[in-house]
Amino acid sequence: MKSAKIAGIGYYVPEQVVKNDDLARHMDTNDEWIQERTGIKERRYAKKHEETNSSLAAKASRIAIERAGIEVNEIDFIVYATLSPDYFFPGCGVLLQRELGITNTEIGAIDIRNQCSGFIYALSVADQFIKTGMYKNVLVVGSEVHSYGLDFSTRGRGVSVIFGDGAGAVVMQPTEKEGQGVLTTKLHSDGSQAEHLAYINPGCHGGYHDKENIDRYGYGDEEFGGAFLTQKMIDEEDYFPNMNGQHVFKYAVTKFPKVIMEALADQGKTTEDIDMLIPHQANLRISQFVQKTLKLPNEKVYNNIQKYGNTTAASIPIALCEAWEEGKIKEGDLVCLAAFGSGFTWASALIRW
Ligand code: UT7
Repeated sequence: MKSAKIAGIGYYVPEQVVKNDDLARHMDTNDEWIQERTGIKERRYAKKHEETNSSLAAKASRIAIERAGIEVNEIDFIVYATLSPDYFFPGCGVLLQRELGITNTEIGAIDIRNQCSGFIYALSVADQFIKTGMYKNVLVVGSEVHSYGLDFSTRGRGVSVIFGDGAGAVVMQPTEKEGQGVLTTKLHSDGSQAEHLAYINPGCHGGYHDKENIDRYGYGDEEFGGAFLTQKMIDEEDYFPNMNGQHVFKYAVTKFPKVIMEALADQGKTTEDIDMLIPHQANLRISQFVQKTLKLPNEKVYNNIQKYGNTTAASIPIALCEAWEEGKIKEGDLVCLAAFGSGFTWASALIRW
């Protein structure tokens, strides 16, 4: 079986820079709180009416495709990770195909809905397809436009100050070189924690998961069907993501090191073998905690949450690309990716560059 390597990588972030003080004009927050708790100084927001999730993804993808030295119509499969799709359906994969002008309908496209760990899950899917020989040029994307769906009132400050918009993409190809490419991926989930970090309404749950409050939104009043979006949800503005931040934090700091150690053990390696760790950019404090636990020096951990906030599925490919562009990842390096987030899901990947 042939391994899959990253043959081209690119990222794109919107031009609009939103600083912490800009947010403080809309809600009761301040630069000091945000920097102290998260490390974030600023983030990017997409330009309304001009940019969307799939348009950011297309910009990142074009760079990755060009760097892979192929044409758009040579892409034979798209794996698209996002939690903020343009539409509930169809997925962003097909919209990206259209946006890129891929006219070849022999290709396939799927969306991965694994939030913060979405990019590693997507990478793992691409890796399997390449290993089996089914595809040769797989475009793997992580892209988010959070800013169109956040609560910018004080009520939403615990969530909205954290997230930003952006996209990253890689082209995966089979490699002829022994020991190069994706060495392993480790994927995990724990659905018992689903509502601790979730975007629940509007949705097709019809009150199923929340039976005590089944009357709250008028579910079941109609003869057929449940309610997707009720007037009460609109009146109460209950259509934003929610996060039990401290609970997520506690889980994250235990799962990150564990899933990294699991990937290393699988390959008979130790933390000392890591040349570069790219943690999902959830919170600088989480990254620092993981770095300390694994006893990694500063130059072996890449963080850019300070500039972009948490871009969920896009955070790893953006950071990976920046680190590579800055010359911090070189051929032969052992690169470790790790993520934790909504689901809960968590994952890691080891890549020989
Ligand atoms: O990528 C997906 C995975 N997500 C994560 O990994 C996120 C994990 N969690 C976190 O990063 C942190 O829990 C947060 C950054 C979200 C919050 O930090 P925290 O230190 O856990 O703060 P907290 O939620 O315990 O809130 C502390 C106080 C509260 O006020 P009181 O009750 O002590 O009076 C909040 O109401 O800070 C208040 N607060 C804010 N104050 C100013 C919450 N958000 C803000 C805000 N500005 N934006």
